Amino acid sequence: MAQIFPKWTNKAPKYVLIGLVVAIALVSYLIDYYASPMYTDVGYRPNQPVPYSHKVHAGDLGLDCRFCHAGVEISPVAGLPPTQTCMNCHNMIKADSEKLALVQESFKSGYPMQWVRVHKSPDYVYFDHSAHITAGVGCASCHGRIDEMEIVSQEEPLSMGWCLTCHRNPDDHLRPAGEVTNMSWTPPANQAEFAASQKRLLDIKAPITDCTGCHR
Ligand code: HEC
Ligand code: HEC
Ligand code: HEC
Ligand code: HEC
Ligand code: HEC
Repeated sequence: MAQIFPKWTNKAPKYVLIGLVVAIALVSYLIDYYASPMYTDVGYRPNQPVPYSHKVHAGDLGLDCRFCHAGVEISPVAGLPPTQTCMNCHNMIKADSEKLALVQESFKSGYPMQWVRVHKSPDYVYFDHSAHITAGVGCASCHGRIDEMEIVSQEEPLSMGWCLTCHRNPDDHLRPAGEVTNMSWTPPANQAEFAASQKRLLDIKAPITDCTGCHR
């Protein structure tokens, strides 16, 4: 009996199936790698219980980031200031402002301020602030111009693709130790030279790109 379909079509369903599986895997991989959370978390800007402004305190008043985020150079987490830090000034300045009522209350009760978290990596990601700050990566590279923000918003995706882009070529983000909290620093003309000498001086290796570096 004559064959209606040529012989190779016997295998066709298998190829279609394999093709489909590969296509689905590829699409979901690309969505994970490039899209999430790139277009979902950037711009996240929750309201805080107290209208604390970085523009006023870090911008206009020029307070250094480390005055309040004391852990940033020495530990994985930057940390938030205790109410006492605010009260060093606000027991005098604007002491009866309505906007500071919750701060006063927290000070009296000893119960810490309940700030809303803005930046958050998933638990399966290992991130360490001090490793970045001591290598000379500035806050602005990852958090943007905090000194211009009335309310903190997330400026960068914090996705795996974003981490890796810098890890593959960090040179433009390396600055002198004294500039890590300077929000308006820009790379000088001889940045490539500077980066090379900084890497030698501080023994900065090419930042890790293997999986176990960030997924421990
Ligand atoms: C006077 C104290 C103070 C200073 C100075 C200060 N901050 Fe903050 N920062 C806070 C407080 C309080 C919060 C929590 C409330 C909020 O998010 O606005 C915060 C929140 C943040 C957050 C968001 C944390 C999260 O939940 O993800 C970042 C990022 C940040 N600060 C960076 C900086 C940088 C960079 C500087 C220096 C340019 C700086 N801060 C200076 C007090 C301060
Ligand atoms: C170095 C001193 C200093 C520290 C520390 C400080 N502030 Fe302030 N804060 C000021 C000054 C100065 C102003 C502006 C007052 C004005 O507008 O006349 C201000 C304004 C404010 C206002 C607006 C008050 C209003 O009625 O307009 C809030 C809210 C505030 N600060 C919260 C905080 C919080 C929360 C902290 C701690 C995380 C803090 N501040 C730490 C000096 C300080
Ligand atoms: C290499 C990128 C990078 C640099 C540089 C960086 N941060 Fe962060 N920051 C992050 C990431 C990622 C998170 C979320 C971490 C998490 O959820 O574990 C974060 C979270 C925070 C938080 C909230 C959580 C915490 O650790 O307390 C604060 C506050 C903060 N950063 C302040 C700063 C300040 C101040 C500087 C500069 C002195 C700075 N960061 C430099 C990437 C960075
Ligand atoms: C703007 C550039 C930049 C970005 C963005 C960045 N890193 Fe890094 N990272 C570095 C540099 C530079 C080092 C230091 C390498 C050294 O000291 O040898 C480093 C080191 C590290 C280390 C090694 C720490 C150690 O203990 O040795 C880890 C882990 C790490 N980064 C995780 C991350 C993660 C996770 C993200 C994204 C959420 C991220 N980094 C984003 C530049 C960056
Ligand atoms: C420089 C740090 C870094 C390195 C190196 C790294 N990752 Fe990631 N990875 C991240 C971060 C940050 C996230 C979380 C992104 C997010 O918030 O969705 C992540 C997320 C993931 C996820 C979850 C994806 C999702 O969207 O649910 C997988 C799977 C993963 N990584 C696998 C790997 C593998 C495999 C390697 C080695 C080839 C690797 N990672 C190397 C930082 C890193």
